[in-house]
Amino acid sequence: MASVTKYPEPKEDDGVLLRLREDYEQAVLDLFEAGQETKELRPALDVVGHTSNFLDNMRLPIHRWFRYSAGFSAEWVKWLLAERDGNELRVLDPFVGSGTTCLACDEMGIPSLGIEAHPFVHRVAKAKLSYTTDPERFVAKAERAFGFARKAAAETDHYPEIIQKCYGAETLGYLDRFRQAAEAEQDGSPEAELLWMALVSSLRVVSEAGTAPWQYVLPGRRKTVPPSPEVSLRKAVQMIAADIRFMARRAQPLAKLQVDDARKCATVADGWATLVITSPPYANNYDYADATRLEMAFMGEIRGWGDLQETVRRHLVRACSQHVPPNSVNLDSILESAELAPIRDEIVPVCRELSSVRLERGGKKTYNNMIACYFLDLAQTWRALRRVCASPSEVCFVIGDSAPYGVYVPVIEWFGKLATAAGFESWTFEKLRDRNTKWKNRKHRVPLCEGHLWVRG
Ligand SMILES: C[S@@+](CC[C@H](N)C(=O)[O-])C[C@H]1O[C@@H](n2cnc3c(N)ncnc32)[C@H](O)[C@@H]1O
Repeated sequence: MASVTKYPEPKEDDGVLLRLREDYEQAVLDLFEAGQETKELRPALDVVGHTSNFLDNMRLPIHRWFRYSAGFSAEWVKWLLAERDGNELRVLDPFVGSGTTCLACDEMGIPSLGIEAHPFVHRVAKAKLSYTTDPERFVAKAERAFGFARKAAAETDHYPEIIQKCYGAETLGYLDRFRQAAEAEQDGSPEAELLWMALVSSLRVVSEAGTAPWQYVLPGRRKTVPPSPEVSLRKAVQMIAADIRFMARRAQPLAKLQVDDARKCATVADGWATLVITSPPYANNYDYADATRLEMAFMGEIRGWGDLQETVRRHLVRACSQHVPPNSVNLDSILESAELAPIRDEIVPVCRELSSVRLERGGKKTYNNMIACYFLDLAQTWRALRRVCASPSEVCFVIGDSAPYGVYVPVIEWFGKLATAAGFESWTFEKLRDRNTKWKNRKHRVPLCEGHLWVRG
């Protein structure tokens, strides 16, 4: 007889929804009531904090629907906005990811535009910005889906290997039935997108495989007690309904999202933005395409890692070595690009050093190509930003420097040079924290930092 998965008993009320809302309201919202003067908001900093450390997005309504490496806290964005004259503000985030900036702008009643090139992540951000959807209609749709899932027959053989490794038969069977139900309920409405979101936000929670601190899945590591998929999905539906009720009372749906490429900002009118708040990919080998491998494989958008290049990576700035395999680019001609002229004297020796260091290392990673392509892509982004920003305007990049194979790359300084060459007037850097200070299991000992690069003009 096949073994039966033993899911833990659901608790009557684990109080999570309530506790999160109370924390949030007490610690933050009261401090940002409309009409308060900036000077009154100042002390809020002590409570809210500048960075993503305190009041992490995963504790905030709506932001918590999908774990993504956001780069900064929504509360920090709100603090930046509160410090400025709201009448003048039009905010652009050219790497908007899961939508933190746009949602924060809606909460502050400020128009914003978010650009994201990763199609799956764009859909997540869009679902998160559907908070004006009627919660009752959403819950009714979800109930129909639970009813459908109860009766449907599961078909799980077609799921790719990563999915078969991450879920036991019973869990996958239920997830498949719910997926069929969500498809049957798909009618292009925002309620249907929220149902999709509930399923997507439950996939990691119910996976029997481990997940890394960031988004990667570790199929080799097992969780001891996997949670029940039906209970988790019901919690997700409850959380989404509670969060949209909460947000609809406090925010204005002003944000617009576009699938677009930050290197061109083709969907943004000349001179539109007065403030840019963004966290671009760091030159540090983090693969944003891989971040959604589990979800995209479950939803049938890819079969495995190999499909990510075509479906996602080719749209993104080249910030990881997986993106630029050997012989995929001509390093010399990239370094000759006109866009790199402002930093050419510095970037050429760094890439040359990386070309020789990589040959001494086991992985032989193509950091030489990656660094050249990364700065070419970001040089184009700075030019596009100059076109779409008003004069004067402010740009804040949350960014860090980098040292692949221990070769230091002064990202901040080079960005400052590329920005001024593109036509901005000045740049300054506010350091937030040191990185790479604990060397256990680290690949190199070059001290790094991250913070806010401010570009003005
Ligand atoms: C650090 S994340 C930003 C996360 C974001 N702050 C959030 O709230 O989720 C960088 C984002 O840039 C996106 N990206 C990479 N290349 C891009 C491009 N050429 N155009 C637009 N977005 C891009 C990645 O897919 C990723 O979502």
